[in-house]
Amino acid sequence: MAKERVFSGVQPTGNIHLGNYLGALKQFVELQDEAECLYCVVDMHAITVPQDPKELREHVLDVASLYMAVGLDPKKAILFVQSEVSGHAELGWILNCSSYTGELSRMTQFKAKNKGRESAPTGLFTYPVLMAADILLYDTNVVPVGNDQKQHIELCRDLALRVNHRFPDTFVVPEGRFMKSGARIMSLDDPTSKMSKSAENIHSRISLLDTDAKIKKSIMRATTDSDMTIRFDPENKPGVSNLLTIYSALSGMSIPEVEAKFDGAGYGDLKKSLVTVTQEALTPIRDRFDQIRHSSELDDILDDGAARARALAEPVLDRVKEHFGIGRLK
Ligand code: AMP
Ligand code: TRP
Repeated sequence: MAKERVFSGVQPTGNIHLGNYLGALKQFVELQDEAECLYCVVDMHAITVPQDPKELREHVLDVASLYMAVGLDPKKAILFVQSEVSGHAELGWILNCSSYTGELSRMTQFKAKNKGRESAPTGLFTYPVLMAADILLYDTNVVPVGNDQKQHIELCRDLALRVNHRFPDTFVVPEGRFMKSGARIMSLDDPTSKMSKSAENIHSRISLLDTDAKIKKSIMRATTDSDMTIRFDPENKPGVSNLLTIYSALSGMSIPEVEAKFDGAGYGDLKKSLVTVTQEALTPIRDRFDQIRHSSELDDILDDGAARARALAEPVLDRVKEHFGIGRLK
């Protein structure tokens, strides 16, 4: 049987954090040995909000380097930059013409990002359609992402099915793969909202490239509660439960094992131990990142990735255009 095709993407904004790592990147690495994987740095998604051009370029290389620092091997997986494969934009437009403003208005991420504004940037509104194009352009079977992308994956499937209904066998209908534990890492200072790249308080998140001192500071001041027992109960004890989730995901211990380890201990003990576990997990990533980011290989790897991605995208895009009747027949 042919290997399954896997696609996923991460935005090149700064601060790739533990949520991105545990919710997405860790799965990417697991999948590279069993499937044909494409992992993309989605710079065209990043410009749905204003970006500083110089910083954006740097961040593209940062994320590509982080991909490799967390264990992706460019010999196994295709690593590339979205804007370097023009098929994403082309298919994005075609799918825009098959989507409805009503369904896009229901996307919770759009609603959250656009809170209170009367008019929204059009790119922000159609962002999930470009994401669908990213996925469908490669006849993708599986999309590993964090839980927060569930609705976008559903939309992608809806679009694929809708087009297939009109033009049979145009798209492969993909499935999301959501990680069970650690799928949603919450913010350290407000454990009722998810850890995010853009939150103002830097201590709300642990970035993968944080120093040991920063890791310690952020964890030690994480919000807990006044109840004093270490127990996994996201509803009533969101802060402590989030620390347990991170502990479990980084150490490989199950949540009940972590609970048992800290039975009768104080929050300070849990936090101190979590500081060590986190530092031990991130130090090797930081070291590899430093090597790769400034190596001359990085450009060659991304050139090669884009060429391989283009070769896979071309026949799919030809098929889509043929079915829609655009362009002359090849
Ligand atoms: P983004 O930073 O939005 O480009 O997200 C990159 C990947 O990380 C996506 O697959 C997200 O679902 C995932 N992700 C982002 N934030 C979190 C979080 N707090 N917890 C778990 N996964 C997350
Ligand atoms: N929208 C995703 C996020 O914010 C990033 C993304 C863009 C993506 N295109 C994708 C993820 C395709 C998976 C597949 O996290």
